[in-house]
Amino acid sequence: MHSTALKRAFFRARCVMAPRVELYTAYELSPIQQKIREANQSGEYGPVPKKCVVTGGLGFVGQRLVETLVERGAQQVVSFDIVPPPANVWKHEAIKYVTGDLCSLAAVEEAVQGADCVWHNAAAVGPFLPKHFYHNVNVLGTRNVLEACKKQGVRKVVFSSTPSSRFTCTDDVDGQTEAEMPDIPQETYVAEYSATKAEGELLLRQACKAGEIMFIAVAPHTVYGPRDNLFLPNLLEAAGVGKLRIFGTGKSRVGYTHVDNYCHGLIIAEKQIYENSPYLGKFYVCTDGATHPYPEGYSIFWEELDQAVVGMGFDSLYSKMALPYFLLRIVAFICDAISAMTGKKLKLGWFTLRMLTMNRF
Ligand SMILES: NC(=O)c1ccc[n+]([C@@H]2O[C@H](COP(=O)([O-])OP(=O)(O)OC[C@H]3O[C@@H](n4cnc5c(N)ncnc54)[C@H](O)[C@@H]3O)[C@@H](O)[C@H]2O)c1
Repeated sequence: MHSTALKRAFFRARCVMAPRVELYTAYELSPIQQKIREANQSGEYGPVPKKCVVTGGLGFVGQRLVETLVERGAQQVVSFDIVPPPANVWKHEAIKYVTGDLCSLAAVEEAVQGADCVWHNAAAVGPFLPKHFYHNVNVLGTRNVLEACKKQGVRKVVFSSTPSSRFTCTDDVDGQTEAEMPDIPQETYVAEYSATKAEGELLLRQACKAGEIMFIAVAPHTVYGPRDNLFLPNLLEAAGVGKLRIFGTGKSRVGYTHVDNYCHGLIIAEKQIYENSPYLGKFYVCTDGATHPYPEGYSIFWEELDQAVVGMGFDSLYSKMALPYFLLRIVAFICDAISAMTGKKLKLGWFTLRMLTMNRF
């Protein structure tokens, strides 16, 4: 067997053999979840709405958001997703799994019926999907959520946004507040994903301005935690087969957000949605804040990643030569050109390069 293939097989075998923690298959709340619920009912944040709807409720963030809402006392949470629930999903009586497509207005309308708040979290995410997916899900899908809420009289929407809709092709987001970041719409975007997420958010913003709904946008820079199947697994797999090197200077500053923190941010955003609230229509970034190694609220991206790489038993990224930025820029340009000509998405495009080298916190 080719040594790369062998390493890949080894990496996958190690992941399969790793102990699997089945936290959320029980019917009832665990003792810890019960404590969280009690603390939440009496605590600083107060109860969550009785009937909640989460679009994309089976994704990395969505699944945890559904669970957190139940842990915090929601009486019913509708998890709306295009994929059917997997066998190990949490089977709690408060959770209703609805399989449907955001692109069907009728399906969305049925799902949001009677909701106190909709967390619109479903999206075509990342840089690797065919172009039309982004428009269909992120723009037309968001329009359907908006129309469905209007028809069903649902007033509150919390939108999972992305800071990449505020990135320019040249400037970093280097410690700027939300108000200091460029606003949408922008002339150009770093990726189709970012452009269509911005378009969706603008639809909600306009409707909010017109008094048709009330909404707040909340975004993380980079989410990590259980069930992540995009960010860390891809990079660790590349490290495991010896293909990952540090990009450029390796000094980029990044704000991370644990999935639980992001869900907390999405949930407390709902508390600020009320008539004449000064927060309506606004965009907020949610991160791990002061728990980052640097008190300004950031980590050095490659230092953090190297800890995970070494933790997996792979060679430190610092033991290998870094890849110079100018070379990566040329490779990314060629990859994007090939993708545009063939429709086949290659891993190292401009968006990926930008995410792995820019400052964003
Ligand atoms: N993960 C991150 O680092 C990150 C960073 C910035 C913003 N966000 C935002 O957070 C949200 C959740 O991201 P995630 O990482 O959990 O992504 P994810 O891909 O794991 O989840 C998205 C979910 O949406 C569902 N979905 C897609 N198309 C659908 C359709 N047509 N109808 C119904 N459901 C559909 C998918 O099946 C999936 O379960 C997204 O809105 C994303 O833009 C995530």
